Amino acid sequence: MLAFIFFLIALAAAYPNRGACTGDCWTKDPAVIQRNSDGKFFRFGTGTGIPIITSDSIKGPWTAAGKALPNGSKITVSGVDSSNIWAPDVHLSGDTYYMYYVLSQLGTQNSQIGVATSKTLDSGSWTDHGIVGIPQNSAYNRIDPNWINIDGKEYLNFGSFWGDIYQVELETPLKVGSNTPHQIAYNETLNHREEGSFMYQHGAYHYLFISSGIAGGYTKTTPPPGAEYHISVCRSSGGSGGFVDQSGQDCLKSGGTVVLASHGQVFGPGGQGVLNDKDLGPVLYYHYYPLAKKNAGGSADGQNQNYMFSWNQLTFTNGWPVVSA
Ligand SMILES: *[C@@H]1O[C@H](CO)[C@@H](O)[C@H](O)[C@H]1NC(C)=O
Ligand SMILES: *[C@@H]1O[C@H](CO)[C@@H](O)[C@H](O)[C@H]1NC(C)=O
Repeated sequence: MLAFIFFLIALAAAYPNRGACTGDCWTKDPAVIQRNSDGKFFRFGTGTGIPIITSDSIKGPWTAAGKALPNGSKITVSGVDSSNIWAPDVHLSGDTYYMYYVLSQLGTQNSQIGVATSKTLDSGSWTDHGIVGIPQNSAYNRIDPNWINIDGKEYLNFGSFWGDIYQVELETPLKVGSNTPHQIAYNETLNHREEGSFMYQHGAYHYLFISSGIAGGYTKTTPPPGAEYHISVCRSSGGSGGFVDQSGQDCLKSGGTVVLASHGQVFGPGGQGVLNDKDLGPVLYYHYYPLAKKNAGGSADGQNQNYMFSWNQLTFTNGWPVVSA
C-alpha cells in the first residue's frame, strides 16, 4: 500500500515527454502562431533579424523561411547591434499581425520595446514602426513584451529582474502614449529573476506564465541544481492585478506554481508561450537547453544559440494548467 502511494507521488512529480520536433528546431524565446488564412505555423525567435521558421504542424518538419526584419530595427540602443533582436511576440488583430520585439544590452536596463506589422507573417512583408514608448524607469527593464486583450482593451506585459513583470495599457497598437506601467508579479527573494511572461485566458481566469530562475550561462557545473529556468503560473480573474498561485500566495510576493521544470534532456525550460493549436487545443511551447550539451561543457555565454524548441499540450485541471504528453 505504502509502495503504491509512493508510486503515485512519483507519477505526480514526473513530467511527460517533450513534444516531437523535427527539422529546424533551434530556437530561443519562441513565439508561435498559426496563420489565419491557411493554418500554417510560423515560429519566430531571438536572433539576427528575427528568424522565421515555418511548418504545417507544431511537430515539424520546421523549415527556415527568412527574417522578419532582415535589415534590423530602426531603434537605436547604444551599444546594441540593431539587428540583434530578442523575444518577439506575435498576434493577429483585425487583418494585421503585430510583432513586439526587444533591443537590449544584456544585463542592463538599456533596452527598448519596438513593434512591426505584417498582413501575411512572411519574410519581406514586415514594416517596422520602432519604439512603442514605454517610459524609462529604474523599477523595470523594457524586455520580453507580451500583448493581451482584456475586455476590449489592449495591454503589453513586459519585464524582468529589477521589478520583474509589469503591465501597461496601449493607447494604440503602436504606442503606449501617456499610460503608466504597474507591477503584476514580483519575486521578493534573491535576484528577482522573473521574465518572459505570457498571458493566456481560459475560462474565468487570466493565466500569467512566467520564466523564473537563471536563464543561461549553462555549463557542466552551473547553475546549482534547481536554480535554472523553469516555468511558473499565476492566475487572476481581472488580468491586470490580483495574481495568486495555486496555494493562494500573492504573485507580487514571490508566489508562482511550477508548471514545467528540468527533466530528461529538457534543461531550463522557459521563454514560453501558449498556442491554441487548431487540432491539439492549448499547447505550452518553450525553449530548453539539451542536457547532453550542458554535460558536454555547455556555454558560459548566456546568449548562445544552443536552445531547442519543444511543447506539451496543456490541460486545465481544477482551474490550473498541467502539461500532458
Ligand atoms: C534591406 O536593405 C537592402 C539594401 O539597402 C534593400 O535592398 C532591401 O529592400 C531592404 N529590405 C527590407 C525588408 O527593408
Ligand atoms: C523566487 O525565487 C526563489 C529563489 O530565490 C525560487 O526558489 C522561487 O522558485 C522563485 N519563485 C518563483 C515563482 O519562481
